Amino acid sequence: MNDQYETEPALMSLMEFARQAALHSYSPYSHFRVGAALRLANGEIVTGTNVENISYGLTLCAERSALARAVSQFGPEIRIEAVAVANLTNAASPPCGACRQTLAEFIRPDAPVIFSTVGGMRTMSFSALLPLAF
Ligand code: THU
Repeated sequence: MNDQYETEPALMSLMEFARQAALHSYSPYSHFRVGAALRLANGEIVTGTNVENISYGLTLCAERSALARAVSQFGPEIRIEAVAVANLTNAASPPCGACRQTLAEFIRPDAPVIFSTVGGMRTMSFSALLPLAF
């Protein structure tokens, strides 16, 4: 389940928004500079970045940062149509389990999720990333 959407210009553009967001990353502990961009059904693009904390466990991932911003700006009816996750550190960056579960509240199951891999990127549908979502 890969790459059926990979060459879509709209996803490439969403990835560029994620990269720009990653430039604002606060990641002095992991040095993983992550950015996320959500394309909403209302046409808006909302970005977020990871915000680390010295206690580690309080760290906020880029995807949940973007999601909180999207709900705050546009309200609880938002629907996410596509997600991009960039990592400026050239590491694979599929959304973590906590972010998948959080996105599940607002995302269309068939939404494409594009993310950085080592030396490239990969696209999967959200339902392939989180099958049998609670
Ligand atoms: N991180 C994200 O921003 N998104 C994920 O889905 C996984 C991990 C961040 C959190 C932390 O700042 C760094 O990457 C290393 O885990």
